[in-house]
Amino acid sequence: MVIFGAGGDLTKRLLVPALYNLAHTGLLPEHLAIVGVDLAQQDAAAWQGSLHAMLASFVGNPSSESRIEAIDAAVWGKLAGGMSYVQGDLNDAALYDTLRLHLKDVAHDAQTEGNVLFYLAVADRFFAPIIEQLGHAGLLDAEARDGTPQHWRRVVIEKPFGHDMESARALNKRIRACLEEEQIYRIDHFLGKETVQSILAFRFANGLFEPIWNRDRIDHVQITVAETVGVERRGRFYEKTGALRDMVPNHVFQLLAMVAMEPPAGFDADSIRNRKADVFKSLRSVTPDDAVRGQYGPGTVLGAQVPAYRSEPDVAADSNAETYVAMRLAIDNWRWAGVPFYLRTGKRMARRMTEIAICFRPAPHAPFEDTHVESLPPNWLVLHIQPDDGISLQFQVKRPGPVVDLATVRMAFHDRDWFPHEPNVGYETLLYDVMIGDQTLFNRADMVEETWRVVQPVLDAWATEPPRHFPNYQSGSDGPQAAEALLRHDHRTWRPVNTEADGSATPEK
Ligand code: BG6
Repeated sequence: MVIFGAGGDLTKRLLVPALYNLAHTGLLPEHLAIVGVDLAQQDAAAWQGSLHAMLASFVGNPSSESRIEAIDAAVWGKLAGGMSYVQGDLNDAALYDTLRLHLKDVAHDAQTEGNVLFYLAVADRFFAPIIEQLGHAGLLDAEARDGTPQHWRRVVIEKPFGHDMESARALNKRIRACLEEEQIYRIDHFLGKETVQSILAFRFANGLFEPIWNRDRIDHVQITVAETVGVERRGRFYEKTGALRDMVPNHVFQLLAMVAMEPPAGFDADSIRNRKADVFKSLRSVTPDDAVRGQYGPGTVLGAQVPAYRSEPDVAADSNAETYVAMRLAIDNWRWAGVPFYLRTGKRMARRMTEIAICFRPAPHAPFEDTHVESLPPNWLVLHIQPDDGISLQFQVKRPGPVVDLATVRMAFHDRDWFPHEPNVGYETLLYDVMIGDQTLFNRADMVEETWRVVQPVLDAWATEPPRHFPNYQSGSDGPQAAEALLRHDHRTWRPVNTEADGSATPEK
């Protein structure tokens, strides 16, 4: 495994801890060597030291989801024993010659049979240049130039994959000139989340839900990805990117596809990706009238005072970058015609919560005349993605007592009540899948291009028309008023973000 960007945050915080967790559960191949590539002058020992220090910071850290109990010296020793480091400039052809020679030695010493996984943990401007350089150096071919057999060569590409439809197409074109689609693993780390993967099991391993999973029974769907963090140290990146590009055509659309896709013919990569691609193709391009943008002002998040986006490091004092997006989407197919999908995502919101909430149509008739019952709230089925993974169903029961009255209650399943905690940084499954050559959880070229197509009209409109009222939501709130208006227009309301429960029923005692 060759990691470009070996000194970066992604490598230290996610990739290497994920490799450690895989090693710990015995899921790494017997013969594995890890080659770090970066510009910094350091040797393998110094690199390993910085990786170990980061891993050590996860030990027993309750605020880290990736918390591990202790570093197992034998497991780390074996992993680190296979690590080496190559210093060089990513744009310099000489680096790739050095790498080729180095990989030859590694293949021999570690008996890796010439299989290589190249992981591009670097800024997106390097994706195409690195792949082209690898191609020129003959590092992507099944057969090496000296005739040594190489079983497979795979490339993992992080997001962002392009910054609009045109650039995504251009990037696909450049990398497809060097690689077959079967060699390309475009990562969306949301697909590494257990609960996201379990949506398919929930839908297709139960006879109960699929028959009601359509326009006949479902009124609308709300997908929320709310974060409490601000822009953190990524002001420079975020100023160019904004919430729409950062979250919607990738993470949020992946959630949407899991809910909206048709049953696949099988659980192989192509069957599943074909059905997801169908969803993206059926998504109507969003008009600017169906989208709302927001930017956070100062406020209080989880009890702490936080500054406005415009006061964050590396952010312009008059920045127009959006930190919040909400939109109404339509899927033009038989299952979903007329069922709106509302999406929203924002930073510095009241609570960290990612959920997919499915609102069912009301009961067709309410035989409760002459009782205390005034209205029937809808049934909600909520897939809780994070932080508290699980599924809940909200329905009406009779409130105990002599008079007829109804109460809304919630039946809830929490992952943590049923399964042991496994240390997980979210990249374990994805790395494992690349190693075994399973592309199910990775984006295909056509899927990426379709998702950009859907949001392109909004990107265009927002680029030409500056927002008028930024900042328009307070840090620690549920987002801008305009987002409320988007749903009010359809006689609907968002589920609250700002509640300790999940925005649904809470016990009366
Ligand atoms: C990243 C975005 O892809 O996903 C970040 O660039 C965002 O802005 C993050 O905070 C959210 O991921 P997670 O796993 O923390 O929910």
